[in-house]
Amino acid sequence: MTQESAVLDAPDTVVRDGSNTRKVFIKTYGCQMNVYDSTRMSDALAKDGYEPTEDMEEADLVLLNTCHIREKAAEKVYSALGRLRDMKKRKAADGRAMMIGVTGCVAQAEGEEILRRAPAVDVVIGPQTYHRLPHALRRAKEGQRVVDTEYALEDKFEHLPIAEKGKIRSRGVTAFLTVQEGCDKFCTFCVVPYTRGSEVSRPVQQIVEEAEKLVDGGVREITLLGQNVNAWHGAGPNGQAWSLGDLLYRLAEIPGLARLRYTTSHPRDMDDRLIGAHSDLRKLMPYLHLPVQSGSNRILKAMNRRHTTAEYLALIDKIRSARPDIALSGDFIVGFPGETEEDFADTLKLVEDVRYAQAFSFKYSTRPGTPGAELKDQVPEEIKADRLERLQALLLKQQQEFAEACVGKVIDLLLEKPGRMPGQLIGRSPWLQSVNVDAKASQIGDIINVRITGTSTNSLFADVV
Ligand code: SAH
Ligand code: SF4
Ligand code: F3S
Repeated sequence: MTQESAVLDAPDTVVRDGSNTRKVFIKTYGCQMNVYDSTRMSDALAKDGYEPTEDMEEADLVLLNTCHIREKAAEKVYSALGRLRDMKKRKAADGRAMMIGVTGCVAQAEGEEILRRAPAVDVVIGPQTYHRLPHALRRAKEGQRVVDTEYALEDKFEHLPIAEKGKIRSRGVTAFLTVQEGCDKFCTFCVVPYTRGSEVSRPVQQIVEEAEKLVDGGVREITLLGQNVNAWHGAGPNGQAWSLGDLLYRLAEIPGLARLRYTTSHPRDMDDRLIGAHSDLRKLMPYLHLPVQSGSNRILKAMNRRHTTAEYLALIDKIRSARPDIALSGDFIVGFPGETEEDFADTLKLVEDVRYAQAFSFKYSTRPGTPGAELKDQVPEEIKADRLERLQALLLKQQQEFAEACVGKVIDLLLEKPGRMPGQLIGRSPWLQSVNVDAKASQIGDIINVRITGTSTNSLFADVV
């Protein structure tokens, strides 16, 4: 393990005439926070002369930014590493060196084991140490294999450049911004507290500055990220205690920033200030991802979610009174150990009561090292599969009903990227749906008025008003 604090040592000297630039290919798995982390790693590497590439073949460095949340996550990484080993050999035979790095949550969970099982890997870097990646790569070049998964004492965000002005534009009109990381909740099924560490909130000023830079670079919509984003807390300008609601009011003051979102929230941390922000702030989009996991009180207790279904439903009522047009989304796990058909029926009942616009549902997956893995009464695979199918049918029906209810409405659409057909763009509705509309590429970044005319499986169609 390395425990270096000298992370700001001089970058490699690179002649920036194109002949000496190196290329990095980053494959991102998992959640939005990993997407954000990949961007930040790419920024950190730019200082050492690395340019991003979409083509693994021309890469001098391949990074796998991994996720450990479900299924044989680690095994998938090892098989990807097997393929990369062959590519590395082939390139070496042509006289081209290629380095391989594993980052993210599998890196944190597996650590040294990755070096043992995958001899082609040069560096293994955890989610809390990726600001030291350039340093680790320099050491790897000198022939050392580096594992750095210690929780850093320094604030990694202080050490991460965010791309210079003008360079951000190519990233598009929407951006993620991590404000909170880690988790202290320890739901019994979940690896995140072990891979991301304990809850940390970034300071207000750091967040505001990053948001302003993004907006300078052309970003119109920012999604604040955290494993428990609504547990974010910090000190306001006069030292007063701020919660996420206060932060949203502050960010809404940034000129040019049109839309704000945040994800993922825990039901226990939805305070009145945050709910109030939904009724006051027009920039805060009417969409809330509020996972509940199960509709059975018995299972919620076993999962250590620390709330009941009645409390969740009361919270939803409160949020809907504050913002009646809010779209709700959720996460569900079926087949948690001990889940009976009755428990599952309670989940279906809760879904019927809430009416979700969007949802993600998963079969329970045993995670090594979590309390859930120790429980007896693991549910057989075929029962999990059957329950998942029934739940997904209901959730899909609700998603379609929500989409169909949008037909005929005039809405604001943020034009985001080219569409499938020439002359079309794809935009985002306030409720996070993809909407196809006829518009010119020069309009990307504009917010226009459209009327929704129809729906398909995963998107909507609209005409400009
Ligand atoms: N912090 C968020 C969730 C982060 S993980 C929250 O508390 O809601 C994203 C989702 O993955 C979870 O909401 C859960 O539905 C799912 N998930 C996490 N661990 C899982 C496991 N062991 N098996 C199946 N699904 C899991
Ligand atoms: Fe995992 Fe629970 Fe923490 Fe969410 S709140 S990240 S599900 S432990
Ligand atoms: Fe996966 Fe880690 Fe995110 S386990 S879901 S990448 S926090």
